[in-house]
Amino acid sequence: MNSTLNVIQRINSLKQDRRAIILAHNYQPDVIQDIADFVGDSLELSQQAACNQADVIVFCGVHFMAETAYILSPQKSVLLPDSHAGCPMADMISAEELRAKKQELPQTPVVCYVNSSAAVKAESDICCTSANAVKVVQSLTQHEILFVPDKYLGQWVSSQTSKKLHMWPGFCPTHSRIQPQHIIELKARYPEAKVMVHPECPEEISALADTVPSTSGMLRYAKQSDARQFIVGTEIGIIHRLQKEAPGKEFIPVTPHIVCPNMKLTTLDKVLQCLEDMQPLVTVPEDIRSRAYTAVRRMLQVG
Ligand code: 13P
Ligand code: SF4
Repeated sequence: MNSTLNVIQRINSLKQDRRAIILAHNYQPDVIQDIADFVGDSLELSQQAACNQADVIVFCGVHFMAETAYILSPQKSVLLPDSHAGCPMADMISAEELRAKKQELPQTPVVCYVNSSAAVKAESDICCTSANAVKVVQSLTQHEILFVPDKYLGQWVSSQTSKKLHMWPGFCPTHSRIQPQHIIELKARYPEAKVMVHPECPEEISALADTVPSTSGMLRYAKQSDARQFIVGTEIGIIHRLQKEAPGKEFIPVTPHIVCPNMKLTTLDKVLQCLEDMQPLVTVPEDIRSRAYTAVRRMLQVG
């Protein structure tokens, strides 16, 4: 028997024994997306983590996503198949640094992108994802807001609202590799194509786009649009889902080199191994979890 098939069979059988569910982010390797019970963007994955009935969540994504699942469902065992799958943007701010910044800006609410540690979430008033950042910021009554850690998402939100945002200087090293020239050249080659870019991209990239949604927002846009071709400015993993769920349409990556190395650490063997060993487990100390939960729950209430 093909060994890949064998591994998938063993994963499925262990999944049943453990009452486990596999959640995968849209940037995961194709084969991981194909075996997952649910594939989505950060917001959809946290909604799934909050409401599913499983005892175990195998989180195929990066560390902050597994942490968010645990924050929402501490009674479940949350497994991250590769414990080294981090997010460099999330590491660009610590809870101590945020506390110091809050002293400089007292009375200013903190909106924290979900790409952050549980300790940073615990210091924040409300979380957001790329899917609801504008809505979350607009839901606050205050005019001035401290937005951490992604300055590019913050700039995008700022352009869509009348709020004054104080930005933390964090960014995604993967999305910041996208150059205006990539899009300008593709637009010349595919004049009918719609341009979709992720809000983690620098401002000069968002300015060239027809739409700036979350990863799952791109899928919805492509399905609904009359256009046949789409230039895609985000991590390459989303192309698999776009092709699968919007067949007959053409998806052109801005370059094939927009790859998040952390997202690609997940393999079938590691998924099997973590289900066998029931580790690496992701947990958060209860004093941090309960405060982070408040910020995440407020976000889910906004939608
Ligand atoms: P979304 O899938 O929520 O748009 O986020 C992208 C991302 O970079 C996750 O790390
Ligand atoms: Fe972090 Fe960027 Fe990778 Fe998303 S794509 S996990 S923001 S490094």
